[in-house]
Amino acid sequence: MAKANRLLQVQEYYFSSKLREVRQLKAEGKPIINIGIGSPDLDPPLAVSRAMQNALEQNDIHGYQSYQGLPELRSAIASFYDKHYKVKVNPENEILPLMGSKEGIMHISLAFLNTGDEVLLPNPGYPTYTSVTKLIEAVPVYYDLKEENDWFPDLESLAKTDLSKVKLMWVSYPHMPTGSKPTKELFEQLVAFAKLHKIILVNDNPYSFILNENPLSILKIKGAKEVAMELNSLSKTFNMAGWRVGMVLGSSKNIKSVLQVKSNMDSGMFYGIQKGAIAALQSNPIWFKNLNKIYERRRVIAWKIAETLNCNYDSDSAGLFVWAKLPKGVESEKMADMLLYTNNVFLAPGTIFGSNGEGYIRISLCVSEEVLQEVLDRFLIRDH
Ligand SMILES: Cc1ncc(COP(=O)(O)O)c(C=O)c1O
Repeated sequence: MAKANRLLQVQEYYFSSKLREVRQLKAEGKPIINIGIGSPDLDPPLAVSRAMQNALEQNDIHGYQSYQGLPELRSAIASFYDKHYKVKVNPENEILPLMGSKEGIMHISLAFLNTGDEVLLPNPGYPTYTSVTKLIEAVPVYYDLKEENDWFPDLESLAKTDLSKVKLMWVSYPHMPTGSKPTKELFEQLVAFAKLHKIILVNDNPYSFILNENPLSILKIKGAKEVAMELNSLSKTFNMAGWRVGMVLGSSKNIKSVLQVKSNMDSGMFYGIQKGAIAALQSNPIWFKNLNKIYERRRVIAWKIAETLNCNYDSDSAGLFVWAKLPKGVESEKMADMLLYTNNVFLAPGTIFGSNGEGYIRISLCVSEEVLQEVLDRFLIRDH
């Protein structure tokens, strides 16, 4: 039976196939260390598992849940946005809890895009924007992000291109994979650009609490809700990637359209998970301080790893990764394969994130200091 045409354009996710190879190498007895992926290894706040345990003791919790999530969860999200981003959202109708922000990329695309509509995507950027765009038979149009421009889009030159078919633009700041932090001016310019060109703007914002003193939401910009939505997630902020809790925020009209899709695709989030999510969102700000202390210590070793590979990096970046620039002429995938086959270290080549990722590698901070130190030792030995 032939598979659907839409699948012909979408390859298996790089990590899905590469990690199969990594598992195979491990099975062969190779001492592989994986510093490729961004799944936090640390535990969520203690209150999260307590809330889940308490929930499990209750009766009548095993049924379908509301499509919009518990009112209490939406209120917790609204309070979190108010407290940490100084953004007011109406918990009644401007928030929709999601099973991770990744599913939000699909739901938003299904809610707003028709076949053939164009979508502006960052290069480099999170590969899911591309695959989802292709899956729903819309057309990816990449905009360049360059180091010399702090990995910000050049909106002036973008405005000179034909944007008449563009319906949606994805941005993600703090940016993955580069760690570039947003400024208020950038968000203002993006909102103005979206308004002028009648484009729906979505900021995918899962990293704003990781190694970042100044969490910013695009919804903080005056009038942003008219054109912008924001995706957020508990995956990185509270080490809950496997719990699958995210959210989308925006105008009640836009949220209603997303709900129209989502309510036809799943039947609510398990009660206990929602209770755990509420506990996480209510964490004391000290949580972020302690978490970031750990990532800071890890990052110092990750920087040393980058230096050992003769790479440059920006020490003022946010998020779970060190984005390291290889010496001139060294290709990302060749370097990544070489480190995998000679040093048994798996890290992400920059090209996974688009052609502008050529010449870069990405080192994850989701492993312990000891493991990063072991990687460093392996590379130091390699040098002598
Ligand atoms: C930029 C970006 N957006 C979204 C996601 C997905 O996060 P979630 O676990 O909330 O689905 C990731 C995960 O790596 C990411 O890097």
